Amino acid sequence: RKNLVVAIDGYSSCGKSTLAKALAKKLGFIYIDSGAMYRAVTLYFLRNQIDINNIEAVKQALEKIELNFHSRDYQSHILLNGEEVSEEIRLMYVSEAVSPVSAIKAVRHDMVKQQQRMGKSKNIVMDGRDIGTAVFPDAQVKFFMTADPKVRAERRFKELQSKGDTQTTLEDVFENLAHRDYADTTRAESPLTRAEDAIVLDNTNLTEEEQLKFALDRVEPLL
Ligand code: C5P
Repeated sequence: RKNLVVAIDGYSSCGKSTLAKALAKKLGFIYIDSGAMYRAVTLYFLRNQIDINNIEAVKQALEKIELNFHSRDYQSHILLNGEEVSEEIRLMYVSEAVSPVSAIKAVRHDMVKQQQRMGKSKNIVMDGRDIGTAVFPDAQVKFFMTADPKVRAERRFKELQSKGDTQTTLEDVFENLAHRDYADTTRAESPLTRAEDAIVLDNTNLTEEEQLKFALDRVEPLL
C-alpha cells in the first residue's frame, strides 16, 4: 500500500514539532523538522557571511551545504556538513535571521527537493510552513496549527529560559514570533497559508495529550 504523509503547518511556536514528534513516535513514522533545515542553512550563511542579496553567492553556498537528520529518537538531530547543530539553530540570533533566508527562492527550491526525497515511499510526519501546500500537496492528512500569540510567546520564552538563555525577554520572543509570522505569511515564495484540505487545530487551551488524541483520531482510520 501507498506510504502515508502527515503534513503539519502553522505559525511559529505553535507546538508543531511537539505534536509531530509525539505522533511519529506513536505511529512509528519518521519525523522530519523542515524548519531545522532552514535554520541550519541560516546558520551556515551567518557563519560564512553570505550576502543574501547576492544570488550567486547564495547558490554557491547552497552547493556546499549538506544536511542530514538523525531522527531515530524523533528529536530530529540535524547535522550541518557533519556537525551537530541542533542546539545552536534554536538560539535567538538564528531565529532573528531565518525569515529572510527562507524567503529566497533558490533556498526553498533546494530544501523542498530534499524534503520530497526524504518522504518518498516512507511513512512520515513533517512539520513546517508549506508542507501541505508546496512540499506534499497530496499528503493524506494535513493539520494547520494556531494558538494565541501570547501563549505561544510564553511557551517559547520558557523553553529558552530552561536552556539557560537569560538575555532574551518575553517581549523579545513575542516580537520575534510576530515578525516571523508576518514575514512567513507575506513572502512571495510559498507563503504560510492553510491548505484548503487542512484540519485546523487551535491548541491555545489544549494539553499535549489532547492534541495527540485529536491528531490520532484523524490519522489512525487511514492506517
Ligand atoms: O519551524 P521553525 O520555527 O523552526 O522554522 C524557522 C523558520 O523557517 C520559519 O520562521 C520560516 O521562516 C522558515 N520555514 C519555512 N518553511 C518551512 C519551515 C520553516 O519557510 N517549511
